Amino acid sequence: MQPHIAWTPTHSLQLLDQRALPSQTSYLDYRSAPDVAQAIRDMVVRGAPAIGITAAYGMALSGAAAARSASRNAFLKAVKADAARLKAARPTAVNLEWAVDLLLRLAVDLCQNGAEPEDVADAMLEEALRIHREDVASCQAIGRHGLCYVPHGASILTHCNAGALATGGYGTALGVVRAAQEASRLNMVYADETRPFLQGSRLTAWELSEDGIPVTLLCDNMAGALMSQGKVDLIVVGADRIAANGDTANKIGTCSLAVLAAHHQVPFYVAAPRSTFDPAAPDGDAIPIEERSQEEVLSFAGTRVAPVGVGAYNPAFDVTPHDLIRAIITEDGPVEPVDPESVSRFLARGLP
Ligand code: MRU
Repeated sequence: MQPHIAWTPTHSLQLLDQRALPSQTSYLDYRSAPDVAQAIRDMVVRGAPAIGITAAYGMALSGAAAARSASRNAFLKAVKADAARLKAARPTAVNLEWAVDLLLRLAVDLCQNGAEPEDVADAMLEEALRIHREDVASCQAIGRHGLCYVPHGASILTHCNAGALATGGYGTALGVVRAAQEASRLNMVYADETRPFLQGSRLTAWELSEDGIPVTLLCDNMAGALMSQGKVDLIVVGADRIAANGDTANKIGTCSLAVLAAHHQVPFYVAAPRSTFDPAAPDGDAIPIEERSQEEVLSFAGTRVAPVGVGAYNPAFDVTPHDLIRAIITEDGPVEPVDPESVSRFLARGLP
């Protein structure tokens, strides 16, 4: 398969249109930062690290367009406006603002040091390519670190899509699954279908079956029954933002899964890179939760499934309290137990 996020030789950004999966693999070409922001908002690309990488390329497109500006001031003004547009595309995944701020700081620093706009734009593209490369390496490291939690013959349940499609490649939660498959420890992946956007059935089931990894699809309300039958050894999910106390925002339904896991004594893990931690959010209450269109709930695969006149509630994410999470598996090793002290120690280790 072609990469789902790629910088092309003609200096555009190519994205696999994830909305069309699994029935179609079609690619869209982007040449401006506002169009990239729209693609993120429309969920052509989704998943926290993938959104961050895409936004970084959006900033590179912004830099290339603004390099035609007459002055450094005009260049920075245009790049700052695009940064604000990109950051506003989706509110919950902190990787988006993390990547945009990284590129913006680079542009400001280089301009202040007297670099020419064209050279700054080149440096911004190099940085976006680096973020993309390093995300793949982080996912592979997450997979390696997660392997110690996977017994031989394991059945793993996951929610939404925290796979190759949600990252630069390999995946976070599905990185652990891939590492387990490579180590011949995997029996089965159970994928929640993940209403209303169906990332589990359309994306997780698709990418695992494409790679020959055994996967069984579940409606979201079947996970508890499966756990009560002893058929789930562990649960691994991704994250969109992890607060300073370890509370974790992820796809709506994750918290219910964690509560069920506690009841059935099934270990519940979060797999996420360092870029998903937000030290500025003291706890889950500080995490902004995106609310999406009612239409996603009122319809199923384009067909209306609710009576006309009925409204719907559609928060895209929920917050799992840290005490329900056994460990957060990162590229630098696990954060365990998950509490304010261990998250703070983990974050401090990342400082220069
Ligand atoms: O709305 P989405 O599809 O962007 O939500 C994605 C998730 O909730 C993922 O689990 C999360 O971003 C982790 S991706 C490695």
